[in-house]
Amino acid sequence: LDAAGVRHYQIAARPGSSELVAGVQTPTWSYNGAWLGPTLRIPRHQPVQLHVHNGLDQPTTLHWHGAQVPGRMDGGPHSVITPGDTWTAAYTLTQPAATLWYHPHPHAYTGPQVYAGMAGMLWIDDDTDARLGLPRTYGIDDLPVAIQDRRLDADGRLAYMTAARDVMGMKGDRFLVNGVEQPYAEVAAGWLRLRVLNASNSRVVNLAFRDGRRFYVIAGDASLLAEPVPMEQLLLAPAERAQILVDLRGDYGRRVVLASDSGAAVPGLYRTPMDVDAHDRRGFDLLELRVGPALALGTRLPAQLVEQPSLTPDGPTRRFVMAGMIASGAFGHLQAGHGYAPRAANGPGGMSAGVGDRNLFAINGEYMDMDKINVRVQRGATEVWQVTNVSLMAHPFHMHGTSFLIRSRDGKAPPPHERSWKDVVLVRGGETVELVARFDHPADAAHAYMYHCHILEHEDNGMMGQFVVT
Ligand code: C2O
Ligand code: CU
Ligand code: CU
Repeated sequence: LDAAGVRHYQIAARPGSSELVAGVQTPTWSYNGAWLGPTLRIPRHQPVQLHVHNGLDQPTTLHWHGAQVPGRMDGGPHSVITPGDTWTAAYTLTQPAATLWYHPHPHAYTGPQVYAGMAGMLWIDDDTDARLGLPRTYGIDDLPVAIQDRRLDADGRLAYMTAARDVMGMKGDRFLVNGVEQPYAEVAAGWLRLRVLNASNSRVVNLAFRDGRRFYVIAGDASLLAEPVPMEQLLLAPAERAQILVDLRGDYGRRVVLASDSGAAVPGLYRTPMDVDAHDRRGFDLLELRVGPALALGTRLPAQLVEQPSLTPDGPTRRFVMAGMIASGAFGHLQAGHGYAPRAANGPGGMSAGVGDRNLFAINGEYMDMDKINVRVQRGATEVWQVTNVSLMAHPFHMHGTSFLIRSRDGKAPPPHERSWKDVVLVRGGETVELVARFDHPADAAHAYMYHCHILEHEDNGMMGQFVVT
């Protein structure tokens, strides 16, 4: 906190090494540490400055995913930080308390940089948690759970884009939570809050407890829900977040395992065999909770959370059509061996990286072009964005600069757990999802906002567009 009441954060991107998998040291890139960055906690309405130093040997940017900040502070592909430089983002977050995150966003290199370990959580805090009596003691009954899958080579280095299929979305066979393979956490017999982020490059997870127990979804990407939603399984696409409460009051002495249950069983998720691997089919464990004695934390599951948000459109309706390689006929080239060979060996420890910008996936028939503004929005307008997926695989659609509400999925009201403010929505093959958003923050062509698929290998290979708000 400086004399002017501004809170400062120092974030340094740099190489490191981490024991992701027991007994193996893996070269990484990260923020202030060896894997993932610190959880940044920013009080709502608090002016902040975030100083981001690039200690890598290649350009990067740092994007505050889900934060409602002007284009100049958004950290998208135009806000390049060259090696050795420091970039400062200054803003005040006025949006509701939420679990956001941050990650690099350099044009065509987002996939490899995130894969190398660059990401972290950003939590917006306000007094709602205390008022509602929700679990809120960091690391005790309020845990960050960042899920990632990775593949390692025989030397323990990260393996990226080493198989032809990888450009469809990089998947790994080792499952990390907060940078540790299938870890455990010691928790108390009480209400436990998990703030789950799917930080995987491309894998959708289907959260469930191994014993099938019910949990309560209290928040989506960018806000709490109006009321807790009891569920036994919850699909979480890359970049989506959910906060869940699980009742461990009667579980002293037990081990309760959070897993991804077989995603292949989820109706409509997978329409092509390329989308699904053996891990999706079988499921995999994520985090073991070892339940100790109860603590007197006085927390509870409230019946009501926050007011149900709503928006009335007053601007144009826009259409976005997401198309993959199969629809465009390009998959034949991929199978023939084109389109995925790394351009350069430039990740940590010689991880080969830099496969982007190959124009394989499109939105509205257009590929990401740094010099092209695809959409112009009038500042203050509330618009409907109608997103249709004509490809066979599901694509998580994300937009910068604002949060949206899901108006409909294939003409029907969204399920209760999708009625919070959101910034990522999984659009299944053949589906049309209608979003409504108000665009309050400015972004000009020099620092345009992005909309894109959050499968990072799709984003890097064309499935992104730019919009300005003026
Ligand atoms: Cu999570 Cu455009 O980003
Ligand atoms: Cu974003
Ligand atoms: Cu995609």
